[in-house]
Amino acid sequence: MGNEAARLELGGNASDYKVLSGTVGPDVVDIRKLYANTGAFTYDPGFTSTASCESKITYIDGDEGVLLHRGYPIDQLAEQSSFMEVAYLLLNGELPSKDKLDSFTRTISRHTMLHEQLATFYRGFRRDAHPMAIMCGVVGALSAFYHDSTDINDPYQRMVASHRLIAKMPTIAAMAYKYSVGQPFIYPDNTLSYTGNFLRMTFGVPAEEYVVDPVVEAAMDKIFTLHADHEQNASTSTVRLAGSSGANPFACIAAGIACLWGPAHGGANEAALNMLREIGTVDRIPEYIARAKNKDDPFRLMGFGHRVYKNYDPRAKVMQKTANEVLERLGVKDPIFDVARELEQIALNDPYFVEKKLYPNVDFYSGVILSAIGFPTTMFTVLFALARTVGWVAQWNEMISDPEQKIGRPRQLYTGATFRDYVPVDKR
Ligand code: CMC
Repeated sequence: MGNEAARLELGGNASDYKVLSGTVGPDVVDIRKLYANTGAFTYDPGFTSTASCESKITYIDGDEGVLLHRGYPIDQLAEQSSFMEVAYLLLNGELPSKDKLDSFTRTISRHTMLHEQLATFYRGFRRDAHPMAIMCGVVGALSAFYHDSTDINDPYQRMVASHRLIAKMPTIAAMAYKYSVGQPFIYPDNTLSYTGNFLRMTFGVPAEEYVVDPVVEAAMDKIFTLHADHEQNASTSTVRLAGSSGANPFACIAAGIACLWGPAHGGANEAALNMLREIGTVDRIPEYIARAKNKDDPFRLMGFGHRVYKNYDPRAKVMQKTANEVLERLGVKDPIFDVARELEQIALNDPYFVEKKLYPNVDFYSGVILSAIGFPTTMFTVLFALARTVGWVAQWNEMISDPEQKIGRPRQLYTGATFRDYVPVDKR
């Protein structure tokens, strides 16, 4: 922790605030006593200058385009590790030994089944329901089925709930897909990898044997790894805020899923692919670039820009390479990939995007890969939620174990009417 102090003068009185230093990254001014000292709040809508918690899980340097999980760079993890190993790392802080990884993978695989009654729950949804709506509902309902892991003060129950959430999310996501296409639900096969099992539950049918394609499995595993955690983003902060009241983990993750759904967050991969399809051909790109630059047009280039990265999103680089591999392997000749590549080049050289430091983010290429694998666009954000569940539970566990944790309760700058007397309706 740093020794420096920050001095604030307000209304002629000065007060000092400790400046705290992390292991890396900007210092933070500890303003917890600000209101007691001055009677003033801070004002930071969108939290652009606010550190909401102390964390040891993920570090981002947005200017340099760096993303580290427990210190390990995302490109090394995506290229050399596996989603299960990264899940262990995020939850436990260290890379596992081979034995520990095997045991963790086995534990997760033993939780892949869903309570049979949940199948009936699915049938309550319309066939054309968005799978994110189904996911929010089903995950929220898990607390009704797994009540024996909802005591947040018991570390063992917290661990079981975390394992259940990570393990059941692929089953929940695959069932949402199967329900939308009217095919029978496929039970998990625990002889397969986490990702292979998910692909089989999604694309397999009971009438035929499903053989997992190793290239698709590896690409999907990378996509999961790239989405596993991302510091205190909107959905993770939602999970932490929901959890700060003592809500059970299933309810908290359902809240995170709801937040992730928005097009400025996890919904961007769906929006990015829809945009690429709408553009359709390379010759129409200038028209869309012009629209993105036009202040009077609400259109934005989806998959571009990021609140934190003011440089190339390190996840986007791995994603672009993976897109090449998958399209080649599957022999897909999709013109939207040409549109994506050309759009990226034009935007990266356009002064508007250069000056505003708008670079492709993780979602720019993920949709191209997912579409080539055969997922409909409505499933894209579901896959993001599946992978991010690992980060959410790691962050939620960290928060609950933090002795400084208290309910999140921001204040406001009130600009509404001040005191006035009620006027009966016949006198208005
Ligand atoms: N296209 C065109 N202009 C943009 C874009 C874009 N994609 N993104 C930002 N800008 C402009 C924006 O109009 C603003 O201009 P000005 O300063 O002249 O008003 C400036 O850049 C700064 O934008 P901002 O909205 O203040 O920045 P922010 O940090 O609040 O927003 C963002 C970040 C991700 C919401 C935004 O860049 C965006 O809407 N991008 C498209 C959606 C998207 O791809 N989201 C995925 C994020 S990565 C996945 C995830 O973490 O969930």
